[in-house]
Amino acid sequence: MAEASGGRTKTAARPSAMRGERAVEVISDPRRHPLPSRIEGVPFPAPVEKLLLAGLYTGVVALLVHGGAPLAGVRSLAGLLGLVLVLNYLFGRHLSKVEPGFVRSTRSQVGMYGAVLIVLGAARFLVDAALVPGAPAWLPHLVPLALATLVARIVHGQRFALEVTTYAGILLAVLLVVRGHPQAAVIEVLAVQLSGALVAAILTGSIRKRSKLVKVGVAIGCAQVITLACFQALVGDFDRTALVFAWLQGLAIGYFVTGSLPMIEALFQVLTDISLLELCNENDQPLLKKLLLTAPGTHHHSFIVGVLGEAAAESVGANPLLCRAGAYYHDIGKMVKPEYFAENQAKAGGCSPHDELEPAMSFLVICSHVKDGVEIGRRYGLHPRLLEFIPTHHGTSLVQYFYHRAMTRSPDDDVDESAFRYSGPRPRTKETGIVNLADAVEASTRSLDHPSPARIRNQVHDIIMNRMMDRQLDETPLTFADLSRIEDAFVHVLVGIFHVRPKYPQITVKG
Ligand SMILES: [Fe+2]
Ligand SMILES: [Fe+2]
Repeated sequence: MAEASGGRTKTAARPSAMRGERAVEVISDPRRHPLPSRIEGVPFPAPVEKLLLAGLYTGVVALLVHGGAPLAGVRSLAGLLGLVLVLNYLFGRHLSKVEPGFVRSTRSQVGMYGAVLIVLGAARFLVDAALVPGAPAWLPHLVPLALATLVARIVHGQRFALEVTTYAGILLAVLLVVRGHPQAAVIEVLAVQLSGALVAAILTGSIRKRSKLVKVGVAIGCAQVITLACFQALVGDFDRTALVFAWLQGLAIGYFVTGSLPMIEALFQVLTDISLLELCNENDQPLLKKLLLTAPGTHHHSFIVGVLGEAAAESVGANPLLCRAGAYYHDIGKMVKPEYFAENQAKAGGCSPHDELEPAMSFLVICSHVKDGVEIGRRYGLHPRLLEFIPTHHGTSLVQYFYHRAMTRSPDDDVDESAFRYSGPRPRTKETGIVNLADAVEASTRSLDHPSPARIRNQVHDIIMNRMMDRQLDETPLTFADLSRIEDAFVHVLVGIFHVRPKYPQITVKG
């Protein structure tokens, strides 16, 4: 590790196991201090509150769907409530199995159920308006189902977007039936709405430019127009105005989401690729500029970790930009005492301040860059998903250099290994796991004397195996196959970095 190689020369100071014992106070054992179940700041509601919220939500849905409807009556209301409860139960059960990220986030749940209520509210208004004599029949085609799908796609991915579309689509169909819409019209509205929503879920993908969302909006409009035109051809009743508004609705959704993207990111605490690209831009980010000026060696190390992390993330289907951004900020805590870290000691002629310190004290200084990093990140308003990379990039790993130095200095004493471990927590996501490995690999391959491809591969393999055997990756969803792909990606990048240049011939100027 770059940190572990901080002190290189021998000192005459007496070894002290006692200092190591004191250091143990700042070490947190992952078993004694488990990682909090969630990172964001909104607390989980208690079971009673959960029940009340579910009841309130069901009541609002029933009011929107059933209030003042032609089918109004106790029996139909009971049928509707039963339907909503069964649907909510099945949807909730399904999500708890396949979308743990959504279930863990109160913010996401409130946001997504709120979005479904907005869609139902708009549908109630438009459907009722269409039933007024003389009103245009195409009004229900303006229901913004694709908007909820698009937001769900940005927040939790394609599968979740399709799940939300199915759930909201069923409720929309129930609303159309209860509000007295003719059966053929219900099928037409649903088909048009679902075609737009499916296009939103499928085409959105990675958003690296704001114009992408406008293009998705155009595609939503086109899908709705084609579906509606097919239906109109089927029944032989062409309505050009309906086609125009079906297209304009898609375009409006694209522009609306483009404009409200920062709000969506803040509400759901998500980072889109646009924001991640902005966070990686040194010209716009004061924290990265400061890192470059105060700890240039660390800045370079972070850049290489970013390149390694991005390549590895691509190979295992993780988020490459999140890895790159996380890597750029993972060592910002080193700005507090940059001279104590090996990569920043070049201008000091290789002299290290650790030469004057006891190993346990050196460990405390090295270890403090994690706590300092979190504090600096919070002060600069770093997003929680990037803050997560700071404590997890070392996990609870051992600072081997100073541990061995302590053992060498006090061969008769029993040096406690846990006193030389970082306080964690260990990585929990693919991305934080990858940066944890990339950090160790970058620092260790830097010390290779003759970095041939074979030596690089051996070194990378050993580092990954050590981290795995040390149980640093236990909480990540990375598989053995993923680790093999990550190893290949690291080797590919490092071989490119350490390539051998042909020696330039010496040119002598005549005359
Ligand atoms: Fe570090
Ligand atoms: Fe690092």
